[in-house]
Formats: sequence, structure tokens, C-alpha cells
Amino acid sequence: MTVKAVVFDAYGTLYDVQSVAGVIDTAFPGHGEYITQLWRLKQLEYTWLRSLMGRYQDFLAVTRDSLSYTLGTIGLNADAALFDRIVEAYNTLSPYPEAAEALGRLSQYRRAILSNGSPGMLDALVRNSGLDRYLEAVISIDAKKTYKPDPQTYELVQEQLGVTPDEVVFVSSNGFDIAGAKSFGFKVARIERVTPAALNAELAGGNPIGPGTMYRAQRSLAETLGYSPDAVVRSLLALPELVPTLAA
Ligand code: LAC
Repeated sequence: MTVKAVVFDAYGTLYDVQSVAGVIDTAFPGHGEYITQLWRLKQLEYTWLRSLMGRYQDFLAVTRDSLSYTLGTIGLNADAALFDRIVEAYNTLSPYPEAAEALGRLSQYRRAILSNGSPGMLDALVRNSGLDRYLEAVISIDAKKTYKPDPQTYELVQEQLGVTPDEVVFVSSNGFDIAGAKSFGFKVARIERVTPAALNAELAGGNPIGPGTMYRAQRSLAETLGYSPDAVVRSLLALPELVPTLAA
């Protein structure tokens, strides 16, 4: 079986969710790190809660609700304009520096995003970052009214691109997404943005453990659920060489 499509997760894989920290720190000086990390943790947690409750609302709603939660934990308030400005930072996240070059070097494959993002958020993001020119499709899970890692979300790749799961290399840095995609039947490449050695070094010297460390510990390492990726690489730029080797 040959690989026909390379499908990317968006937030954390092509785009750096940490790039909202500047806007937040300007709004709430000294709280950028705390808010950034807890907001992202809660945002994903709310996707799972809503999926399990059968109470889907799109990722914009989840992103807003999780920001409200996060500000509420430390008694902060944002007026409507400031709140919107912080949420809109999700439309202008920075792509990882190597994303455009890596996508460009994968041009012999069909390239797409499959993301929890709402169609509106994703359209703005790929357009603002210029990555739209490399992507044939930007697929939102919104069509299924449930979130990753529900297998129904991964079915969208076949439904929209017409490729079977074994013709797909799915690329993600998010542990839950990697496990879900592998369990579903894709070949999976994990982008290792945080290593255990780096995390261990953050704990060295008795430094207090900050919110960033806790975020990375919870979300950036591989899950131990039994659905391991087929390959682990440190950069999207490793993909052009890796992808052909994943054809089974
Ligand atoms: C996404 C989440 C997993 O882009 O970050 O779907």
C-alpha cells in the first residue's frame, strides 16, 4: 500500500498554541504563562466533556468557555472587547518555523488538516498564516458534532479525500490524538516537541514546577494507552524522508 495523503493535526502540530501568551500577558501582566497553559488544558478537557455528555458545541464555544473558566480561577475579568481579542489570538497563531517548508516538500502527497477547530477558526488560521497554499483540504470535526479522539472524526479523512486509512500518514504532537489516530487505523507520525530529558531538566535544581511544565507533562509526551505511533521525529522537516518508509 502506498501513502497517498499526509494529514496534519493543527493546534500544537502545525501551529504553536503557546503563541497566545504575548496577547494574554499584555492583557494580564504577569499571568500570561498561567492563563496560557490552563486555558489550553481546559479547552481540550471541555472537548472531551462535551463529547461524552453528548452536548457538542463548536471549538470556538469551547475555547471561549475554557478561557472564562481559566480567568475565573484567579478572579480576573475581561470586558467583552478584551475577551474577544484574546480568543481571536487563536486565528493568528504562529505556525512552527519549519511548517511551510515541510508542507512544501511533501507536495507529491495530498495534504490536509484534520482538526478540532471550527471551520471559521481554521479558515482564518490557515489564511492568516499562508499555509492554505499547501493544503488541499482543511477538515473540521464539526461535521461530526463530536471531538477527537472519537473514531467518527477520523472517518472524515476518507469521506472527504477518498483515501483509505492505510493510505494515510497522520501527523500529530498531541498524545491523545496520536493514540486516537493509531487506534482508528492510520499510520501515525508523532512530532516530539518535548522530550523526557528536557522535562526532567525543568525539574532539576529544585526549581518550583510552573504551569508550563505541568502542561508539557500532561499533553506533550506519548500516552501509554497501547496505541503507539509508527514513528517519532523531532521536526516536521523529517517527514519528507520518513513518509515513504511508512508505506506497509
Ligand atoms: C486539533 C487539536 C487536537 O487541532 O489540537 O485538532
